[in-house]
Amino acid sequence: MTALSNRKWTLASRPETTVSEENFTLEVETVRDLAEGEFLVKNHYLAFEPAQRGWLNDVRSYLPPVAIGEVMRSGAVGEVIASKHSDFALGDFVQGTFGWQEYAISDGAGLYPVTKINAGTPISYPLHIYGLTGLTAYFGFLEIGRPKAGDTVLVSGAAGATGSTVGQMAKLMGCKVIGIAGGQAKCQWLIDELGYDAVIDYKSESVADRLQELCNNSVDIFFDNVGGPILDEALVNMVNNGRIVLCGGISSGYQVKELPPGPKNYMQLVIRRCTMEGFIVLDYVERYPEAREQLQQWVDEGKILVKEHVLEGIEQCPSALAGLFAGQNFGKQLVKI
Ligand SMILES: NC(=O)c1ccc[n+]([C@@H]2O[C@H](COP(=O)([O-])OP(=O)(O)OC[C@H]3O[C@@H](n4cnc5c(N)ncnc54)[C@H](OP(=O)(O)O)[C@@H]3O)[C@@H](O)[C@H]2O)c1
Repeated sequence: MTALSNRKWTLASRPETTVSEENFTLEVETVRDLAEGEFLVKNHYLAFEPAQRGWLNDVRSYLPPVAIGEVMRSGAVGEVIASKHSDFALGDFVQGTFGWQEYAISDGAGLYPVTKINAGTPISYPLHIYGLTGLTAYFGFLEIGRPKAGDTVLVSGAAGATGSTVGQMAKLMGCKVIGIAGGQAKCQWLIDELGYDAVIDYKSESVADRLQELCNNSVDIFFDNVGGPILDEALVNMVNNGRIVLCGGISSGYQVKELPPGPKNYMQLVIRRCTMEGFIVLDYVERYPEAREQLQQWVDEGKILVKEHVLEGIEQCPSALAGLFAGQNFGKQLVKI
């Protein structure tokens, strides 16, 4: 094979506030020869998650920070185009933590072992509905939220990749679902296509007023992707013994320089005997097969719809990440290479 040229984004500096292209360098290298036990992947899609912003902070977290000079970490799917590994053959489609680059050399190990994508599966789906996004929605909602038919479920970040899956699962469980999202188009989509019972456009409406109107003191489960003022407003609308699932806090921007204020209404947890519990999807790794099977069944039956927001070209990576914090994505943020 003639030598291939690989473009890759490496971390140049740690953002103090919002992330931008200046924090990364687009480098070009020649793809080296494979050693025994390695294979070469041509990336097709890269996945973007708000957590990636957190991985740029040099702080204690559930994963080590991305090092300066290292290829930016991300999930990816691609095709094996050369192999000296007995388990991975030319033409296999695989998923792994291949990072922001066009080509990746792997030995199959790593943060998450490389897995093959079954024939017939749309190749981008393992990056969202059958991947960490779908699994986060599944375990966070079912295990921490513990829904029952008839529950009122409030979801923030409701039109996002995770939130939209949670809302649809809640409808499947027989719950009443209220979503909070930014902008009319996203809110309309939640009602028209995903079957939400009501929505709040936090960019143009008062969340406090609308919550009172829609579910005064009646929220059984709040699945929170956002934190900040929205969490505070939800806290005053919980039922006794309600459950708050802390999935994420994107309103903080995952910045370390200026931490968000704590929830000022936290005493509602005492008064209403509520639980507020965080989780990390990685804790459920042994149960991923069970969850994937169920998610796949729901997708196959048309009970869970997925939406992708695809930018084209490796050049787009920094703006794809930054865009998550501005609500630019409508569906799962991907970059297609
Ligand atoms: N606990 C876990 O294991 C785990 C795993 C994966 C993801 N997560 C968390 O799940 C959440 C959703 O992640 P995702 O990958 O599905 O991303 P996403 O929801 O598809 O994209 C992020 C969305 O967040 C919303 N947003 C951005 N800034 C906001 C702000 N200041 N206030 C309110 N909403 C804001 C935007 O939607 P609008 O247009 O509606 O503003 C944006 O589209 C994140 O908090 C993420 O960290 C947790």
